[in-house]
Amino acid sequence: FARHAPYIRAINRLKREKNAVILAHNYMTPEIYHGVADVVGDSLQLAIEATKVEAQVIVQCGVHFMAETSKILNPAKTVLIPDVEAGCSLAESITPEGIAQMRARYPGAPVVSYVNTTAAVKAASDICCTSANAAQIVAAMPEDTVIMTPDQYLAQNVAKQVPSKRVVWWAGSCIVHEQYTARDLREFRALHPETRIIAHPECPPDVVAESDFSGSTSGIIDYVTREHPSHAMLVTECSMASNIADALPDVDFVGPCNMCPYMKKITLEKILWSLHTGTEEVTVDPVVAAKARVAVERMIDLSR
Ligand code: 13P
Ligand code: SF4
Repeated sequence: FARHAPYIRAINRLKREKNAVILAHNYMTPEIYHGVADVVGDSLQLAIEATKVEAQVIVQCGVHFMAETSKILNPAKTVLIPDVEAGCSLAESITPEGIAQMRARYPGAPVVSYVNTTAAVKAASDICCTSANAAQIVAAMPEDTVIMTPDQYLAQNVAKQVPSKRVVWWAGSCIVHEQYTARDLREFRALHPETRIIAHPECPPDVVAESDFSGSTSGIIDYVTREHPSHAMLVTECSMASNIADALPDVDFVGPCNMCPYMKKITLEKILWSLHTGTEEVTVDPVVAAKARVAVERMIDLSR
């Protein structure tokens, strides 16, 4: 941590001077997560926290759709992202035209879009969901058929949890979670039977079926903190285990993990630069934002 200390001090000082707060996703590196974040959480928690921010500036340490969600929910604030290139393979996989195609194919079915989408896609959707509430949101739809976009695997996992619905999906996927295979997990379990396997629901359904628990990034942290397994394999992004390992010294985090190249674009250096220069400011067209806000707020209301 020592080499990060000057940056951490400078960022924390500048945050006070600029009346800024840092909202950081659970996939941020430990020096960001522990060193400079004011709030950490999964996508749902960060969206809810964004509505409560009183400071004038939000520095979103996560990916671009998260910064857009903060701007949509708290438009009077200046929202900064330390690197505009911090995208997401899911958000890139669908456009409003894709939503229109799905509506034409399944007339009358509501569109539940994962928050990992652009503001324009949210605006074209009926409601959003995150990995923390997807099954709850789909179950709450009055229609029998529900369109889920853009994550095919989250949709397939939700379909199993909510068998009363016919869930249809867009064919997007997360480049981090699609890499895991059920075979890898079975082989790992055969060699290390004491290991608790915990998978994010963006993993393919056969991977989730091989795991002992599946949940959002914060759901995973809560599970490990509560259950205290002697060995845990987090089938998700690598920073997750790094961020909680110190607080859980008797849990051995084992097995492979995958890095999200988009999340890893956010660094202490870029956060400092962002605070200094006010770049990059994230804006959302007010007409698009108003429609997207309806979809996100419907989700937050239904998740309470
Ligand atoms: P969570 O909502 O579970 O934090 O997931 C966000 C994400 O991008 C996972 O890849
Ligand atoms: Fe997107 Fe996957 Fe990265 Fe999450 S881990 S931001 S879903 S690419």
